Formats: sequence, structure tokens, C-alpha cells
Amino acid sequence: MAELIVTGGRRLEGSVRIPRSKNSVLPILAAALLCEGESRICDVPCLSDVDTSLALLNAVGACACREGTDVLVCASNQMKPSVPDSLSGAMRSSVYYIVPLLYRCGEAHISFPGGCRIGARPINLHIEGLRAMGAEIETHPNTIICRAPKGLHGANFCLSFPSVGATETLMMAAAFAKGRTVLCGCAKEPEITDLARFLRRCGARIQGAGGTCMTIDGVERLKAVAHTPIPDRITAATVLFGVAACGGDVTLTGVRYSHLNAVLHTLSAMGAELCRPEPGVLRIQMEKRPDAAFVTTGVYPEFPTDAGPLFAAAALQATGESMIRETIFENRFACAAEFCRLGAEAHVQNSRLYINGISGLKGGLLASQDLRGGAALVIAALAAQGKSRITGTEYIARGYEDIAQLFGRIGAELYWEK
Ligand code: UD1
Repeated sequence: MAELIVTGGRRLEGSVRIPRSKNSVLPILAAALLCEGESRICDVPCLSDVDTSLALLNAVGACACREGTDVLVCASNQMKPSVPDSLSGAMRSSVYYIVPLLYRCGEAHISFPGGCRIGARPINLHIEGLRAMGAEIETHPNTIICRAPKGLHGANFCLSFPSVGATETLMMAAAFAKGRTVLCGCAKEPEITDLARFLRRCGARIQGAGGTCMTIDGVERLKAVAHTPIPDRITAATVLFGVAACGGDVTLTGVRYSHLNAVLHTLSAMGAELCRPEPGVLRIQMEKRPDAAFVTTGVYPEFPTDAGPLFAAAALQATGESMIRETIFENRFACAAEFCRLGAEAHVQNSRLYINGISGLKGGLLASQDLRGGAALVIAALAAQGKSRITGTEYIARGYEDIAQLFGRIGAELYWEK
């Protein structure tokens, strides 16, 4: 994989369009397998996790391909229940395929999903919920086998933690289970509402998505539709914290402000000027070093865990001491040790990242170890003086189509080197 060469210290200026959300696209690609006919998912970014999803869909016997910027997905009558290990191990989102394969084949065989090593990431809630709906599930050290010979039935199920993935798995399962399912303790992230919007347009009967409780009446069949996913709120946060770190005046187009409330609140506390010149457009101006801030991540609508490292990268430049407390994943701050290679004063203790902001970061050699931590290294390098080289960019490519182009469009100096 190519390395990123970043020359830092430049102010960011200009305009950038925010792409569609990775975390919406991935479950929707899987949910398209529940539909009769060809689904069209519009304006899908070229991410390695999307490529892995297309490979997975084709490997299980579906037809999935790109047509321009859209992706077309169609189930076939030769679907296979097993996901190849190399694909399930390549991304966390392979877990979304358990339910569609159960629907299509009556069983699903999948090795435990891979993904960024930001925490243990068990799938017990997916399993408990599916069992409550009548699935028979065997878990082996590396594999899970799920069967529903008589189909799934509706159930009342309460998630003990509002997991995004488990809420999405159970919503898909309930869409075709016999009878009514009531899910409580659901996650409320906008990507869940987007998946519900997709499924409802396909004919699913889902009420309450985006709230704590959902009621879902199973239907016999869903029909394929065209769907445009929501904008990527974490890519928007990446640009916003990049501007907070480097200073500048940048306009983001194609954003949903309401999805960014906690992030915008933090940026204001750091001294950024934010305005909304017209619907879907957000302008950020930062004319000084950021003020220090304290942040606690949480489930939506609280500050997103995925934006934690991005905030931290901006806080490296702040005047004073910042702190971020992570509440979702145990190993979110692998990037902290890399920040220190630029001369930053940052350390992790008990899920908290403490940062003593300084102004003279110097470029260095950085190794990305996960997706958002990798993007945070790009921000830190953009704000440091001199040249940095970032390795491990395959993690970044999972969630950003081309991060060099994203920041290059607004005046940053960075390029790929093979
Ligand atoms: C999704 C997002 C990811 C984001 C995360 C939290 C996608 C593709 N990924 O991941 O970017 O960081 O939400 O907003 O949408 N948990 C269990 N048992 C389970 C499931 C989860 O204990 O069965 C725990 C996890 O270990 C974690 C917490 O619940 O501590 C949140 O995980 P979850 O919300 O499920 O995250 P993902 O869906 O994996």
C-alpha cells in the first residue's frame, strides 16, 4: 500500500463536498440481498470496505457491481450460505451478512468478523437477539453457524447496550420474521435511521427507528429500490477538525448539520466560527490556535467515538490541556503514541487521552493502526511543520476514498508515494 507524504503547516482554504456515509452504505449493501430485483445504491464512495462488500456479495452468489458512481446489487437463486474467511476477516461489516444469508439460504456460516482493532468487539447481542427470534446458533472458536430451518419469528428483545451493528442486524431480521418484533434499547445513530428508510421504501414495516424502541411487523417480501445514503458525518468531522488544527476558512457542501450537533458544539468551544450560509452547506473559520476542550464520547447523539481521535489531533495544537474520555471502545487511542513522534505531549490513562497542547509540532514518521486513528495522524501531520511520512494507509483507505485529494482540494500539501 502506498504511503502518504505530508508537508504540514499550510492553512486550509476552499470548498469540499462530503461523500455518502460508509456506515450507511455497508449495511444497506447487505440488506439489498433481502430484496427481490436489483437494488441501486447511489453515489457510493470508492472505499476498500465497499470493495470487500462487493467481493463478498459476489462470493456468496449475488451479482454486485459498480455502474458509474452507483452500486447495483441483485440476489440470485444460487446463493451460498458461507462467507469466505478472507472476506469476513477483512472487515467488521461482514456481520451484516448473517441475516441476509439466513433469509436466502436458511443458514449462514461466517468466521468472526474482522475490522479495526479498537476493542474486543464481540457479537453476543446480534446472537442473543437472533436466538430470541428462533435462530439456532452454534459458535465455534472462529466461526458462527446460524440456522433458521423454520424461518424467524417476531420477538420482544431488549439490547443491553445500544449497539449500532446489533440494532441493524435485528432490524433486518425482523423485517421478514413472522409477526411483530419489538426491539428496545436500540442505538439511534443516523445510519440506523437511514437503513430503516431504505428498508421501509422496500416495503418493510418499521416504526420508531432513531428512537430507543422499534416496532417491526415482518413482511413476506421486499422489493428492490434505488436509494441514496446520507452524507458521511465522520468525513465531515475529519475536515472540520483538520481546519481547527491547521487554521483556515473552508466550506463543506452536502452535509446534514443535525447529525453533527455534538461535533459542532465542541468545535465552537475550541473557538471555531461556524455558519450555515444555505441548506446543506457549512462554513468553518479558524483564525487562531484552538482553545483546549474536554470531550466524552458516547452513543448518538453524544460525541461520536469515531471522531475522538480527530478531535485529539486538533487538540494537540490547542492552548492548554485537553482531555477526551472514550466510553465505547477500549483501544481507541493507538494514535496517541504516534502523536508523540511529532513532539506532542499526549498520554492515555484509563480510557482517557490527556493532551497538553503545544504550537511547535514537527513532522515525523507515523504508523497508522486503525481507520480513524490514521485520519487523525493525517490531521496532526498537516498541522506540524515540515514533512511527515504515514504508513499503514490501508486502514485509512477503508473509510476515505482518497484522503490526499480530500485535503488537497482545500490547499493541503500531501501526496501518495508507492
Ligand atoms: C459501528 C460503526 C463504527 C462506530 C460504532 C460505534 C459501522 C460499520 N461501524 O460499529 O464506525 O465506531 O458503530 O458508533 O457502522 N458490543 C457488544 N456486543 C455486541 C455488539 C457490540 O458488546 O454484540 C459492544 C462493542 O464491543 C462496543 C459497543 O458495543 O464496545 C459499540 O459497538 P457497536 O455499536 O456495535 O459498533 P459497530 O456496529 O461495530
